Amino acid sequence: MGLLFLMPSVTIRTTTKKTVKSVVGGQERVDVVSRCLLNLYRWQKRINDELSLVLYLSHPEELSVIHIPISSIKSNLKDELDSIEEFLDILSNPRIFDLNIEKISFGDLLKKLASDTTFFYFTPEGTPLEEYTVDFDKKKSVCFVLGSQYDLTKEQEEPLYNLGAFPISLGKRNYLASHVITISCYHILKKQSASNKPIFGR
Ligand SMILES: C[S@@+](CC[C@H](N)C(=O)[O-])C[C@H]1O[C@@H](n2cnc3c(N)ncnc32)[C@H](O)[C@@H]1O
Repeated sequence: MGLLFLMPSVTIRTTTKKTVKSVVGGQERVDVVSRCLLNLYRWQKRINDELSLVLYLSHPEELSVIHIPISSIKSNLKDELDSIEEFLDILSNPRIFDLNIEKISFGDLLKKLASDTTFFYFTPEGTPLEEYTVDFDKKKSVCFVLGSQYDLTKEQEEPLYNLGAFPISLGKRNYLASHVITISCYHILKKQSASNKPIFGR
């Protein structure tokens, strides 16, 4: 079973020149995604299920997805600069990593994933994480959906809810996307070691 973290970014472009220095300076807020990648890379060392970052490029001239299984990262990511460099390499030449950037609408991506995935959507309006006792199809993958530096738009939320996404709240505090990933991975790990079950919510 896979654990996917799906995040839209409206600012990241595939066609612009970016360097580690420009990203550190805030270009296209690539830093937000790089931090998520670094956290997933670190958590993958402790979590048995395969983790992936599914980045949806929602800029009107992109409308495409890149699915990055953490196992496709071959470098040793020691810090944020390493993960920025790795992410820029993936973005500029995905084939080297056996990945590809696929043109698709956000709605169609959700529909495609829905056939073998249960969605959990991180939103402060959701049900508190600790209260979840959802019994879902254990053969399916789990896809956590979250915003990047911006929340999901209403147009992105609507198809997600229509596909039965379970809204999860982490409380009133507004967390960075990378922290949301860390909190959920921590919870998953706790569940794994407590009950030998591979995912929270059961
Ligand atoms: C940095 S936030 C996005 C922008 C932010 N909401 C704002 O007002 O500036 C990143 C994402 O993490 C998730 N998130 C942050 N805090 C959360 C919370 N308390 N409960 C559930 N999800 C949260 C949401 O999916 C959110 O879109």
